[in-house]
Amino acid sequence: ALKLNVHKTTEQAITAAARLIADLVAIRPNAVLGLATGGTMEPLYTRLVEFHRAGLSFRRVRTVNLDEYVGLAPDHPNSYHSYMQRHFFDHVDIPEDAIHIPRGDVEPDRAAAEYSALLDRVGPVDLQLLGIGANGHIGFNEPGTPVNAPTRVVDLLPDTISANARFFTAEEQVPSQAVTMGTAAILAARSVLALATGPAKAESLAAALDGAISPDCPASYLRLHPSCTIIADRTAGARL
Ligand code: GLP
Repeated sequence: ALKLNVHKTTEQAITAAARLIADLVAIRPNAVLGLATGGTMEPLYTRLVEFHRAGLSFRRVRTVNLDEYVGLAPDHPNSYHSYMQRHFFDHVDIPEDAIHIPRGDVEPDRAAAEYSALLDRVGPVDLQLLGIGANGHIGFNEPGTPVNAPTRVVDLLPDTISANARFFTAEEQVPSQAVTMGTAAILAARSVLALATGPAKAESLAAALDGAISPDCPASYLRLHPSCTIIADRTAGARL
């Protein structure tokens, strides 16, 4: 079933999400965490690093990330590898060999096949963290993605490229493809935590929760999951 928690402020939403992850790691120190990137997650990782400094260990955790841009090597500043190092992994005690992110710098179909096999080996994911695209995507599963899509190479839609251009020096620099965990793998997680903050997410969150369960809004598939928590701030929850 789906739990929805709308918090007054972004900070309260972030803290609630961080607590949920910290509580899981405290109870299950060897949890498999499915991690996400994007602007929404930056303050969440900051909060988790604070929890780590206050004594929370991630020493036995294993992680799998949702996605990576095709064409960006791990050390490219805009790769999701770099993002994760900068915001989280550089500041906590997760062993390097426990971290898994799709490769952006090998032949894309091979990178996807290898990542799919990796997920089968490392899974099941105990908690999958998710952001929601302004167009309703989860991971890089864009509108049009069926519920059971495999981990694969995807073409990014123009609105996703524009939305993510703010992280690059120019829109032309945003890769046109990504390797993403499929909707099937996302929904196979034991629990899902979706986080939405800011007014840009109000429409897609309302479509996800109150619209049809449909490929038009892949985030609507979360309503099919047996254990999904949605945490939003008041601006993201404005249309609910
Ligand atoms: C990105 C990522 C998603 C993320 C979403 C929202 O493109 N692939 O994993 O959840 O879009 O991003 P943001 O938090 O920056 O709005």
